[in-house]
Amino acid sequence: MKSLEAFIRGIPKAELHLHIEGTFEPELMFAIAQRNHKEIKYNSVDEVKRAYQFNNLQDFLDIYYAGASVLIEEQDFYDLTWAYLEKIHEENVIHTEIFFDPQTHTDRGIPFATVVMGIHRALEEGKKKWGISSKLIMCFLRHLDESAAVKTLEEAIEYKHVIAGVGLDSSEVGHPPSKFQRVFERAKQAGFLTVAHAGEEGPAAYIWEALELLDVSRVDHGNNCLQDDKLVEELVRRKMPLTVCPLSNLKLKVVEELEEHPLKTMMDKGLMVTVNSDDPAYFGGYLNENFLALSQALNISKEDVVVLAKNSFIASFLDLEVKKEMIEKVDAYSRLNS
Ligand code: ADE
Ligand code: ZN
Repeated sequence: MKSLEAFIRGIPKAELHLHIEGTFEPELMFAIAQRNHKEIKYNSVDEVKRAYQFNNLQDFLDIYYAGASVLIEEQDFYDLTWAYLEKIHEENVIHTEIFFDPQTHTDRGIPFATVVMGIHRALEEGKKKWGISSKLIMCFLRHLDESAAVKTLEEAIEYKHVIAGVGLDSSEVGHPPSKFQRVFERAKQAGFLTVAHAGEEGPAAYIWEALELLDVSRVDHGNNCLQDDKLVEELVRRKMPLTVCPLSNLKLKVVEELEEHPLKTMMDKGLMVTVNSDDPAYFGGYLNENFLALSQALNISKEDVVVLAKNSFIASFLDLEVKKEMIEKVDAYSRLNS
């Protein structure tokens, strides 16, 4: 019988909450900065890693946006995405849904096409080489105005064939989903699916807004739903997926200790929970490290891991037939390895 660790490492799984700019490892950051003749304010990879101490989301975002500013050429976005695919291939992630933040780049004069096509080209290559399937989700930066999001949406329409959905990220508190109701309405009319970060640092009321005003298919994070019993009831009733990010929650002090993480409580309440890595280069681990850290901190069984792996496919944007095939892979793995 496999140990829980080996079981976690081997199970086929999907990732649904991953910012591609958050996979930027310091080694690659230095290499790309050098070839683009860009300065970074650290002298070594070790110094960069030591700087990754955050007290909250904004602390992290300041460093994350500074890191992303060395990405210039289409090849940079390709290399960033390729490095992530190499990691997840080793982790038995067979499907991934990737966020990107176009405004972080277009506001620095980088063309939208450079960003999206660099990422897309790597995703195509990952499909060809390893059979990893993927979807791209374009996030609007919520600390900026809705009018800037509308402009970004207009640019995205030309790339509708490679972008499955739109999302909402960046500084949450003070920037509720209601601020983006009109641009989400337009995105839906244009045929994009919708998701939004809500209830990471923001209150349960922001999750209600994401459901009722943005008509989201998933809530990213969603931890703070536990502050509102009626909301939990509604999320369970809708089978609304929550893309939970344990190591992110620890590093950004959403929880003080992983032992206090609400993931198991959420599962016990009947919520459709998935495990994700968010920004793995900054938070100390990719998807398997998130599962492994949880398994050490909480009382997680192989059965829980199977439920979480199945949820990751159920909650994905894959077609129903493909979801069924992937869930069958999880069942087959579980039968062989339990
Ligand atoms: N952008 C990248 N990671 C994020 C997070 N955890 N919350 C909000 N915006 C983000
Ligand atoms: Zn996120």
